[in-house]
Amino acid sequence: MTFPTDRQRLADQLTIGSELIYLPRQDVEHLGLTRDAILELTRQALVEHGHRRYEMPAKIGVHPYDNVFYHAMPAYLPGPGIVGMKWIECYPDNPRTCALPQTTGLLVLNDVHTGVPLAVMDSAWLTAMRTPAVTALAAAALHPDATTFGMFGCGVQGIEHVRYAALAMPRLETVHVYDTNGAAADALIATLQPELEVRIIKGASPEAVTRSAEVLSSATVILRRPLAVVKDAWVTTGQTILPCDLNTFWDPRTARRADKYLVDSVEEHELFASMGYFPDGLPEVTAEIGEVLAGVQPGREHADEIIVNSNIGMAVCDIAVGNALLHRALERGVGVRLPL
Ligand SMILES: NC(=O)c1ccc[n+]([C@@H]2O[C@H](COP(=O)([O-])OP(=O)(O)OC[C@H]3O[C@@H](n4cnc5c(N)ncnc54)[C@H](O)[C@@H]3O)[C@@H](O)[C@H]2O)c1
Repeated sequence: MTFPTDRQRLADQLTIGSELIYLPRQDVEHLGLTRDAILELTRQALVEHGHRRYEMPAKIGVHPYDNVFYHAMPAYLPGPGIVGMKWIECYPDNPRTCALPQTTGLLVLNDVHTGVPLAVMDSAWLTAMRTPAVTALAAAALHPDATTFGMFGCGVQGIEHVRYAALAMPRLETVHVYDTNGAAADALIATLQPELEVRIIKGASPEAVTRSAEVLSSATVILRRPLAVVKDAWVTTGQTILPCDLNTFWDPRTARRADKYLVDSVEEHELFASMGYFPDGLPEVTAEIGEVLAGVQPGREHADEIIVNSNIGMAVCDIAVGNALLHRALERGVGVRLPL
């Protein structure tokens, strides 16, 4: 799948400048954009990023309560001519206090030729999809021979991380999962085991999972102060660690002593550090994961390297997936047309 960029087809299906398409979550989810397609769109967006063919200022945010954030995430990909912005919020206590997801939001896409809005869509689904796609692409690139994967956090992201790992890691055999809420781990296994060939095992403890998997990821909560659940002493040579919850879950010493500390975006990580999210300071960054996927920087060079790759999420991936959803929706006559 390549970026759909045919503006004429878009103009044939939408009166640009007079109307926009609104896609609620239900529509976005049922457009049939496959995980394979999302992996490929995300890979292309990361490669564009790796070649510096993008404009994407670091997220700006507002923070009404402690540990809560709203982020504005604009991006422009000049190659395919995609421009837009995600407006996303993260309320870590939502699942516990009001049975709502931690992360909700909207994506706006614009016409790069005239600037006018083309679409507004739910962005929770595409965030739930493109985030594990980044993790899985990184896992496949940095550790292609891995047979074991460990997942901390079995919520929305954890479930999709296991699905994407099974899809993108060519030799994967076993997945170990852990959640402080044991019922979430049970639910993940009950949902995914019937559909996946890999064996999924509920980990007895964070230590047991860390010691059992070559590639590890975490999607728990993002907090300013690290919880340091995974002790540095448990991490051994050759492991690949792919947090998508910043440095919350991991002993900060691991990223510091890693042979390579990769990030999705240096700018984003520096911004989070300036907001107090890396109280011990941001570890020295080796390269960006897009550069590795684009072949501009090396990935794993030795089997015994410890590699940490922190991916906090990039708007270039959101607009790449959102653009494909918009084209699909117009082709299929899905969505609500709203006057501008
Ligand atoms: N990097 C990105 O691009 C990106 C995108 C979306 C979400 N996120 C982050 O991913 C995280 C998870 O998001 P989600 O939508 O899956 O949330 P969720 O609420 O659906 O799931 C989180 C799970 O983590 C578990 N958990 C919490 N603390 C834990 C701990 N100490 N040890 C083990 N398990 C723990 C919870 O019990 C829950 O099951 C959030 O921090 C979110 O901000 C990152």
